[in-house]
Amino acid sequence: MKKNLGAHPYVFPMPVLMVATYCEDGTVDVMNMAWGGICGNKYVALNLDEEHKTMENIRMRGAFTLSIADAAHMAEADFFGIASANTMHDKFARSGMHAVKSAFVDAPVIEEFPVAIECSLFKVDEWEHGPRVIGEIMNVSAEESILGADGKVDVSKIDALIFDQFGGCYYKVGEKAGKAWSEGKKFM
Ligand SMILES: Cc1cc2nc3c(=O)[nH]c(=O)nc-3n(C[C@H](O)[C@H](O)[C@H](O)COP(=O)(O)O)c2cc1C
Repeated sequence: MKKNLGAHPYVFPMPVLMVATYCEDGTVDVMNMAWGGICGNKYVALNLDEEHKTMENIRMRGAFTLSIADAAHMAEADFFGIASANTMHDKFARSGMHAVKSAFVDAPVIEEFPVAIECSLFKVDEWEHGPRVIGEIMNVSAEESILGADGKVDVSKIDALIFDQFGGCYYKVGEKAGKAWSEGKKFM
């Protein structure tokens, strides 16, 4: 028997993505974002608040990177979601993390996070619920330590965080449950 909970944005799991940009003075800003994901073979969609420094930076520089947050850096990832570079000008420096400029777009790649999706701004769709940023993926970079023998990212080595929209918590990705496009074949 199901109970109705009302209309809420209750999807699980949500990603814990770190949106990294350059401010006008060249300093790095990173913000935590759960409401985003893939929206095409080479595109990502981000639901961002217009007031965030990140939004201003994306409009100004036309680029951003998305890093997958790992459990080892949960405190830093959460900090990026509660502090704003609008009011805390040394936000990124306080985290103690490091960044290098992407070779593909005008945005920083955070060294400590294991995977970065490097995007150029494709367009911003405006609607009554705020800007929806569409980014074109120009490159994905990953630490060699998380690659499997086949050269692909082995997600079991990331220890990635996921966001729980129901309870406002972070979880860690668990174990592999099965193979996609395969487990259901028994019903074909
Ligand atoms: C778990 C978590 C998820 C968040 N997801 C989003 C999101 O999807 N979109 C958004 O606009 N803000 C989101 N935020 C809020 C921003 O990260 C936060 O307002 C941040 O301070 C903005 O930083 P900035 O002003 O330096 O860009 C989230 C915060 C947390 C803690």
